[in-house]
Amino acid sequence: MGRINMNKQDCITKTVTFIQDKFTGESSGHDWWHVYRVWKMSIRLAEAEGGDLFVVQLGALLHDIADWKFHDGDESVGPRMAREWLSSLQVNDESIQHVESIIRDISFKGANVDTPMKTLEGKIVQDADRLDAIGAIGIARTFAYGGNKNHPMHDPKSQHTMHNTFDEYKAGKGTTIHHFYEKLLLLKDRMNTDTAKLIATSRHAYMELFLKQFYQEWESIDVSI
Ligand code: ADP
Ligand code: NI
Repeated sequence: MGRINMNKQDCITKTVTFIQDKFTGESSGHDWWHVYRVWKMSIRLAEAEGGDLFVVQLGALLHDIADWKFHDGDESVGPRMAREWLSSLQVNDESIQHVESIIRDISFKGANVDTPMKTLEGKIVQDADRLDAIGAIGIARTFAYGGNKNHPMHDPKSQHTMHNTFDEYKAGKGTTIHHFYEKLLLLKDRMNTDTAKLIATSRHAYMELFLKQFYQEWESIDVSI
């Protein structure tokens, strides 16, 4: 794991300020606090699993860099913006390339689409990002996103879709409850590291409990009078 020297620490601090400024005011689930949680969790995972803490932290801090403004389409925007920023800090090219590849590969792309990470650092940042998509915060973010996009919360008559391509997934127009089946409940079995698998187990159980209660309240069968 190793310590981070002063110069590297300075890069991290500057990147925190840079991202904080960019994300201020975002309300679609891509706010600074999401990045903050992914950053903290990535450090926790790296402490248990190993990995280069400099690359892990830069990957976590920059992983959603393209999403603050460019909401769809061009997937090369994120890596390019990260390279520009890290070059301005004179970060070595090997680390820049590593961070670029993490940003390029990290996203969930649909139920039936494999999204492998090439390095331990990438696996850690992907796990941290996915841990923030499940549990109590995952539930909250999902409803916040659905509200922002004007999706209905639930429709007992409609069925969710297991997407086969990223394009299909992106074009999906399901309910917010569908999103649990199309993504959130799948994440537990897709964690890369043992530490994240353990954390995911309890967050997953919390979501199952939430759904059970949600369906009971929907039909008023939680009422025992
Ligand atoms: P990230 O990779 O940071 O999790 P995403 O763009 O995949 O970012 O999603 C941001 C948040 O919005 C996540 O919590 C995600 O589960 C949620 N989200 C994404 N798509 C949908 C959707 N169709 N319905 C509800 N929530 C969604
Ligand atoms: Ni994210």
